[in-house]
Amino acid sequence: MEIYLDTANSDHVEFANRYPFLDGITTNPSIIAKESFEHKEIMKHINEKVNGKIWMQVTEEKADRMYEQAMELKDWVDHPVIKLPMTEDGLEAAYLLREKNIEVNMTLIYTLSQVVLAAKANVTYISPYIGRLDDQSLQGQQFIQHAKEIIQSLGASTKIIGASIRTTQVVSDLARFGYDAVTVPFPILKKMFHSPLTQEGLTAFQEDWESYMERTEIHKP
Ligand code: G3P
Repeated sequence: MEIYLDTANSDHVEFANRYPFLDGITTNPSIIAKESFEHKEIMKHINEKVNGKIWMQVTEEKADRMYEQAMELKDWVDHPVIKLPMTEDGLEAAYLLREKNIEVNMTLIYTLSQVVLAAKANVTYISPYIGRLDDQSLQGQQFIQHAKEIIQSLGASTKIIGASIRTTQVVSDLARFGYDAVTVPFPILKKMFHSPLTQEGLTAFQEDWESYMERTEIHKP
């Protein structure tokens, strides 16, 4: 499963850089809006730090303008994925970009009929917003299971990237059930490293080691 960090914050990017097995960085307009630098500068900085795919979202609303914007964004980084909203214009632009062999992601996917169209267009990725579906009692994980069935039955190569992740449990479920990709916010990534039991065990090991070292120091010839 590909794992991305959903951020544009430079400290988070530095952190991700320590773990080159991560697959890259995803962004969206709200994530970029939290930063104070110019969009291009942010993306170029991320590109310097991260080897994997870097995902950037278009902000134009018409298909032709989305396409033009995407063609500009893709040159900012080495391995771009262009995110487009799942709208009539978004899918039109996505198809044009696919014809140019540019990787595209349809974002803000909330219905299975949107999945049908995106899979039919054979876009590279779709991102159902699992947390926001759950917020509306729309059963995010059941939704992506149905989305996977649709993609398989249409014979598409479209990958599902789980987005809007609120818990580490969802990440492990996606890995367990063989999903293609997930993007996690920084606090969730940090939580994935830790367990209080690991810390408790480590403290005990450390204390035992220190007492052993003190004893053996005393008995040294
Ligand atoms: O990847 C999508 C994500 O950025 C949205 O997350 O928490 O705003 O629903 P959230």
